[in-house]
Amino acid sequence: MHRKILFAKSCLEGPGPRPLQEMAALQANPRTSSTLISEYARRPSPRRPPVRVRCSAAPSPPRSYRITLLPGDGIGPEVVSVAKDVLYLAGSLEGIEFRFREVPVGGAALDSTGVPLPEETLTTAKESDAVLLGAIGGYKWDANEKHLKPETGLLQLRAGLGVFANLRPATVLPQLVDASTLKKEVAEGVDIMVVRELTGGIYFGKPRGFGSNDKGEDIGFNTEIYSVPEIDRIARVAFEVARKRRGQLCSVDKANVLEVKFRKASMLWRKTVTALASEFSDVEISHMYVDNAAMQLIRNPKQFDTIVTNNIFGDILSDEASMLTGSIGMLPSASIGASGPGLFEPIHGSAPDIAGQDKANPLATVLSAAMLLRYGLGEEQAAKRIEDAVINTLNKGFRTGDIFSEGTTLVGCKRMGAEVLKSVDSQATVATALH
Ligand code: IPM
Ligand code: MG
Repeated sequence: MHRKILFAKSCLEGPGPRPLQEMAALQANPRTSSTLISEYARRPSPRRPPVRVRCSAAPSPPRSYRITLLPGDGIGPEVVSVAKDVLYLAGSLEGIEFRFREVPVGGAALDSTGVPLPEETLTTAKESDAVLLGAIGGYKWDANEKHLKPETGLLQLRAGLGVFANLRPATVLPQLVDASTLKKEVAEGVDIMVVRELTGGIYFGKPRGFGSNDKGEDIGFNTEIYSVPEIDRIARVAFEVARKRRGQLCSVDKANVLEVKFRKASMLWRKTVTALASEFSDVEISHMYVDNAAMQLIRNPKQFDTIVTNNIFGDILSDEASMLTGSIGMLPSASIGASGPGLFEPIHGSAPDIAGQDKANPLATVLSAAMLLRYGLGEEQAAKRIEDAVINTLNKGFRTGDIFSEGTTLVGCKRMGAEVLKSVDSQATVATALH
């Protein structure tokens, strides 16, 4: 019998893996590990974000968390820099102290160390309370062999942290409904959470590789494989998520076709999810084939509340769901495991075509920082501050190029960050954040 997972981790229990805990228990019993804090304090001191803050209503004692920053490639450094400042400010206002440590991943790591996930990066990430990632990848490394691709570093990081549950919300904000390519009446009010299995399936399945067939032709092959415990644990997460939302869970598979000999990955998926449903009688469960789900997401997205699916279908459907909202540049994600720090990242990529031009939309990373606070640290108040600030900034009409429409104010990445900071707390000094 598995323990219920409620997505709040105690980050206060000292070094090493920390179990997922019930949110209520965490809030009821906030403790701080001074050992953990002083241990981290001995590390090279991180650069402080260029903001001054007014600390108001700080609960005592202050909580302190170690955050690993992985800016990565392309627009990653720009958007992470904004999110770091926002995180720092929102935390300060809630009496939270952050200790940031920045380490390379992806192409940046390949260039500086020769591998996409250096040992030190994984160790630093594992020893922290939460990890904030920008993006990885770029043209420069596209032709690299697989083990030297930036993407390989990201997959190794997810596997290394054991973050099997990837939450990808796709919410159409009223302020941005016109940015959607769908008709207003179809897009309006869409609020979907895609729960993607992240450390299994065809991404990691063996056997995999290259070979030749009996005609002597070159072939490439991969294996879609899931064990019952792997399906069970992601389904539990999804049921819990659905329970806290509108109570509807749609499990997406390809049970009409997919089977790998006796392993029957997709049939097993449906059977396991169905078996679990009796434990969550307050959640309405439905099943859908992935091709139909792709179509229904465009036809009538409002029919979906929470979707649970495997790694590859989740990759594809979450990109599709994100475009319902008008811009992939708006969407955050949280990846959570059974223990240890969570990984928080925007779902957009590294956008090398606009990298370094101050054109990127930092809001997906800023909202990932909010998810980090909520799901990674159980700091609901600070998370709310950030989300409210993003809404407020949009209400004021500020837009980056990807979400711009007539009558709104076009701004760059830094200015958008400065405006969010202003909204997080009107007394924050934001001038320096523009540099
Ligand atoms: C994502 C990305 C990654 C994935 C790539 C960059 C490996 O597309 O996070 O959705 O396929 O998981
Ligand atoms: Mg993807």
